[in-house]
Amino acid sequence: DSAIKIAPSILSADLSRLAEQVKEVEAAGADRIHVDVMDGCFVPNITFGPVLVKWLRPVTRLPLEVHLMIAKPDDFLDAFAEAGADSLIVHVEGATHLNRTIQHIQKLGRKAGVAINPATPAVMLEEILPELDLVLAMTVNPGFGGQSFLPGTLAKIAAIRRMIDSVNPDCELEVDGGVDQDSAPRLIAAGARVFVAGSSIYGAPDGPTAGLRRLAGSVG
Ligand code: DX5
Ligand code: ZN
Repeated sequence: DSAIKIAPSILSADLSRLAEQVKEVEAAGADRIHVDVMDGCFVPNITFGPVLVKWLRPVTRLPLEVHLMIAKPDDFLDAFAEAGADSLIVHVEGATHLNRTIQHIQKLGRKAGVAINPATPAVMLEEILPELDLVLAMTVNPGFGGQSFLPGTLAKIAAIRRMIDSVNPDCELEVDGGVDQDSAPRLIAAGARVFVAGSSIYGAPDGPTAGLRRLAGSVG
């Protein structure tokens, strides 16, 4: 379906009360929870492993989407699936045998996504696109929350939208990084339909519910 979806990223949540923060966005109308996994190697930051997904799983009924920013994603697919991930997203830049990785994820019964960094051309998705459930177009350089949206990514997002419409219209097009009420309308116009948002939701001065509603209002 073409409905707009919002995926709050817990990277910007108050982790001392993670369950509460996740329940709050669920009640406010979030569609899925985005979990940013970083290994200090593929990206210059370290975050969460499968154990966090395991503890998060019983907290919410929302799908858990795991964004793997790690050097060896294949070694951890089983563990994240077992922990309760509903979808697994790997980077096109980090995969040597991307088709094998995607098959692996789908054999686990999970949705398979591919993330693409700002400097990587859309054509890198061409051969794998028919197999994918989701493309995650990065609109910042991955590694940290709270960075500014890179408007140079808009043309590529529009190109990916055209590719999806022609070869795999069921594939979702999600964007990640600097998504807020200013960038989201431009991203919609480019063809994005799923919006990851960390700081514009969890960093909102008036709280996550207000932040999520403001973002939803800007795209609805
Ligand atoms: C960046 C992560 C994002 C991050 C987005 O490396 O992949 O998911 O949480 O945070 P904001 O919305 O603050 O840019
Ligand atoms: Zn992410």
